[in-house]
Amino acid sequence: MPKRPNLSFQIAIDGPVASGKSTIAKQLADQLKMTYIDTGAMYRAMALAAQRNKIDWHNGPAVATLAAKIDIRLARPAGKKKDGRPVSVYLNNEDVSWKIRELEIGEGASIIGIHKEVRKILVKLQQDMCDGKRIVMEGRDIGSKVLPDADLKIFMIADQAERVKRKQKQLKQVGEKVTKKQVQADIVSRDTREMTREIDPLRPTLDAWQLDTTHLSIEQVMDEISKRVKMLEATQRKA
Ligand code: DC
Repeated sequence: MPKRPNLSFQIAIDGPVASGKSTIAKQLADQLKMTYIDTGAMYRAMALAAQRNKIDWHNGPAVATLAAKIDIRLARPAGKKKDGRPVSVYLNNEDVSWKIRELEIGEGASIIGIHKEVRKILVKLQQDMCDGKRIVMEGRDIGSKVLPDADLKIFMIADQAERVKRKQKQLKQVGEKVTKKQVQADIVSRDTREMTREIDPLRPTLDAWQLDTTHLSIEQVMDEISKRVKMLEATQRKA
């Protein structure tokens, strides 16, 4: 990884499905004028590309070969693209920002995430995107693998019932009507796969701040994190 210049500041946010990562990471980036990188969107775009090319999500080498050929780009939504999406996602220049949010593609992203060949390519892309920037990056392996030297590592958690509620709301936004039971099954399946996979499993690093968002409003979470960031940035400036 390239050496980090002094002006960079990296915030790594990890956590399971619907723990609050995306909402907070996005708002934090806006508030602190940092670049927001949603790594889950990259796994999702990759899963969509594999599906369209009729490649089995379980076939790691085939998905990795495809990953090396396609172009995945993230951009801040602007103009007409400001339609509630957290980030604009382009797959070979096609806007797939909403398509990748479907339940089925989430499952595909979780499956392709078990392959070391695929992770190697996506982790390198993610690290290259950070070079010298002030960044908020969210995912499953950010503090442990992608940005091990991040200035602030947050591991976000929330009770399962609360996560089911949040996920159901997100899916409604993309027009998917799913039952509570279906959402719960999806969450349990993805949690289990991601926490037990061999490569870069989802788990907090020793230096991560574990933040339970179950009973906190978005404003409260934002306030707690902003305070910590300000303190860390001030310490960094003095050093
Ligand atoms: O954050 P998300 O739900 O949009 O991510 C979709 C899937 O992608 C998630 O279930 C697991 C995988 N993923 C991963 O393996 N590593 C990451 N850094 C981000 C996502």
